[in-house]
Amino acid sequence: MTGPLTTSEIREKYLSFFESKGHLRLPSHSTIAPDPTTLFTVAGMQPFKPQFMGAPAVFPGYGESRRVTTAQKCVRVGDIENVGRTRRHLSLFEMMGNFSFGDYFKREAIAWAWEFLTGSEWLGLDPARMYVTIYEDDDEAFRYWTQEIGLPESHIHRFGADENFWPADAPLKGPNGPCGPCSEIYYDRGPAYGDDTWADYARTRESARFLEVWNLVFPQYDRQDPRPDGTPVLADLPFKNIDTGMGLERVASVVQDVPDFYSNDVFKPIIDRVAELSGQPYEGEVSVSHRVVAEHLRSVSMILADGVAFSNTGRGYTTRKIMRRAIRHGYLLGFREPTLYQLVSLVVQTMGEAYPELGAEQSRVEAAIRGEEERFLKTLEGGMQRLSGLLAELEKGATLPGEAAFLLYDTYGFPLDLTKEIAEEYGISVDEAGYAESLERAQETARAASKYGKAELFGAGQEALEGLPPTQFVGYDTLTAEGEVLALVGAGERLPHLRAGSEATVVLSRTPFYAEGGGEVGDTGVLEWPGGRGVVRDTRKTPAGIWLHDVFVEEGELKPGQTVRGVVSSGRRAIERHHTATHLLHAALRAVLGSGVRQAGSLVAADRLRFDFTHGAPLSDEETAQVETLVSRWVSANFPVTWQEMPLAEAKAAGATALFGEKYGETVRVVRVEGGVPFGNGTVTSMELCGGAHVTRTGDIGAFVIVSDENVAAGVRRIEALAGEAATTWVRERLNNVARVAGLLNTSVDGLEGRVSGLQAQLKAAQQETAQVRRQLAEAQMGGGRAPQLRELGGFRVAALRLSGIEGNELRGAADKLLDQSGADLAVIASDRGLVVKATKNAVARGAHAGQLVGKLAAAGGGKGGGRPDLAQAGIGNPQAALEALDTAF
Ligand code: SER
Repeated sequence: MTGPLTTSEIREKYLSFFESKGHLRLPSHSTIAPDPTTLFTVAGMQPFKPQFMGAPAVFPGYGESRRVTTAQKCVRVGDIENVGRTRRHLSLFEMMGNFSFGDYFKREAIAWAWEFLTGSEWLGLDPARMYVTIYEDDDEAFRYWTQEIGLPESHIHRFGADENFWPADAPLKGPNGPCGPCSEIYYDRGPAYGDDTWADYARTRESARFLEVWNLVFPQYDRQDPRPDGTPVLADLPFKNIDTGMGLERVASVVQDVPDFYSNDVFKPIIDRVAELSGQPYEGEVSVSHRVVAEHLRSVSMILADGVAFSNTGRGYTTRKIMRRAIRHGYLLGFREPTLYQLVSLVVQTMGEAYPELGAEQSRVEAAIRGEEERFLKTLEGGMQRLSGLLAELEKGATLPGEAAFLLYDTYGFPLDLTKEIAEEYGISVDEAGYAESLERAQETARAASKYGKAELFGAGQEALEGLPPTQFVGYDTLTAEGEVLALVGAGERLPHLRAGSEATVVLSRTPFYAEGGGEVGDTGVLEWPGGRGVVRDTRKTPAGIWLHDVFVEEGELKPGQTVRGVVSSGRRAIERHHTATHLLHAALRAVLGSGVRQAGSLVAADRLRFDFTHGAPLSDEETAQVETLVSRWVSANFPVTWQEMPLAEAKAAGATALFGEKYGETVRVVRVEGGVPFGNGTVTSMELCGGAHVTRTGDIGAFVIVSDENVAAGVRRIEALAGEAATTWVRERLNNVARVAGLLNTSVDGLEGRVSGLQAQLKAAQQETAQVRRQLAEAQMGGGRAPQLRELGGFRVAALRLSGIEGNELRGAADKLLDQSGADLAVIASDRGLVVKATKNAVARGAHAGQLVGKLAAAGGGKGGGRPDLAQAGIGNPQAALEALDTAF
């Protein structure tokens, strides 16, 4: 007598059943989605979208067939927080499917599903327990179910597009692509699971008793963008198709007659092992954690085996979220050391035959999980304490501030979902908008701090850019150009579209936008297309020459394949002025300071230029003037600026300036100013290897002014300079300032210098007078030579005095005087402006310490202080309290 079919046997039976019906068996597609509509593969049909849309049914290495069958590993993470809490949710499941690409249709799909479920040599389930739903107007399916299968009408229910269309509600909500009505098959698990009826289910759509086991989809439409008035658009596909999905875990629990799939032969060994490792039996409330650990380990193992790595963006981050949820539940079970990785071998045992990649990647998967456990366990405990502290302070129904949730992420690596889930256990929600704001702020800071930060934030992971050709850049000669959208990338993933209000990276076939490089900032501007517009916030490029435009869509929708017009902002003209000015500045510096000057870095922007170069001393006023004069001579001469590509050797032979330590290709671009300016006995010229954007004549530069010269490193100086309008505005502002200051001082700009020297002399005299007055004040307060009474403290004689209005030097002078007058070892003076303690040499030799005493007294007086053994001082708020503390200070 053999037991019920195992999960593996059911899988195999399914595939061979459909092979016997003329289907080609294909392996599962990776859990990484085949198209950008989702991160992970969510359905068996997903790899076959092209065939549904009319592509040839040819599968290299397997053959050609319009009938195909697969077991597809699917990952759905939309409601991950329910996994484990209920026994109905899974993040990874196996979907058995049979597909027809314009071959058979409803009649066969229905007949074969029935035969497989109820046929005695297949699953042999009781036909009387079968129920189905169909789409509201699908009379054809109704006819097959009633007339050909013989299902009683009372076992059939019609639902609308939210239930019986796949994807659910596709006509109204999308996604675009193949879709159609469907018919779902339910199995009645019997009264042990509930006393509800099929009619109850039809009303409530909830049942523990009626379990959906198979979905037969009839994809015959291509869902497209709705019309402007919102009317759904369903175009006919080239032919009618079949896409079915049978949930293997569900069917296995029915066939094995176990209450849920956590008790079937795939999960049970993992759950048992979790119980064994933790010493916690699988029962009661804690069993949630057994389920979470077992389920998540299965999906994470599969995803990692498919080549995903834990990371902080995109798919890698989702995987990390699943893993960290499992680690936290492991922690609840008592695991304090990496343990969960030991479960991978069980996943391999139960599923490795059907998915050989699991076995092949086992050691890599184990190492990755172990590493993630090590990382997260380090911060988990601290984070849990912090979070439970925060939650304990809040009332049920309150909201945890977003900033706190962000700090938990930032400091302890708590994904937001995890924080939300734990907060929920306390009946507290999380301010997600606040979290997003904090995250955004932190990213802004990181972006500003890191040169490459922005490129990372552009989110264009290498993977997402694979297969794209280098971009054709036409922006040296024009500021507008049309190009085709080749890809939209966000968070490391390709996106199917970019809607108004969202931001992502756009890759075009052709672009006028300069990509940051050679010190020149990336261009900004707009993209325009019929019905839409996006702002280009920055432009970068990859080493492979793919231009990445950071675009925020303001209106309309952007999609791959669309033609857009790129218009570079007029700020580019200011960038060009600053770039050509940088070359001239470079040449002028070498002429004035000598050929030891070498470029060490630069920034060319619309509002300024910055030029770092090797030189040991600040520029004298005269040198600065000479450099500015040279540049303005070029400007007035209005020479043409030309650029040309040529072999590197030729450029060097012609004397072009190359950057030290820079790598150049075989062919280089040479930017030349066609004319020199006289300096000393010779002529100064400018010719540099450069990929940047320049004015076409030097006259376009306009005014030029050096605004600062500072030291940035040993032997490296940094000059900031302005060209064009930025220069004239800067000069005008300074002139206005100087005039305002002259006005304040009741003099003219020319009289300013004399007036300021006069005021400085007056100020000095006044300061001397004040010091004199303070000294007199101190003396007066010290009672004209009458020394205060001495106290005996810790073996030292201490004189203490309170003064007012005395500070700094005078306070110290008063302490000297007090020591003299009183013959004490230590003098303490507290004033409302500070505290000073002075000790005689002799007292110091005997162990007195003014610094330590000041510390104690200052603390009593609300301040902080310290200092040497013989003299120390502090700022305090309360002199009286500091003095009163004297008696307890020893
Ligand atoms: N695509 C359908 C589903 O996922 C049937 O395979 O339910």
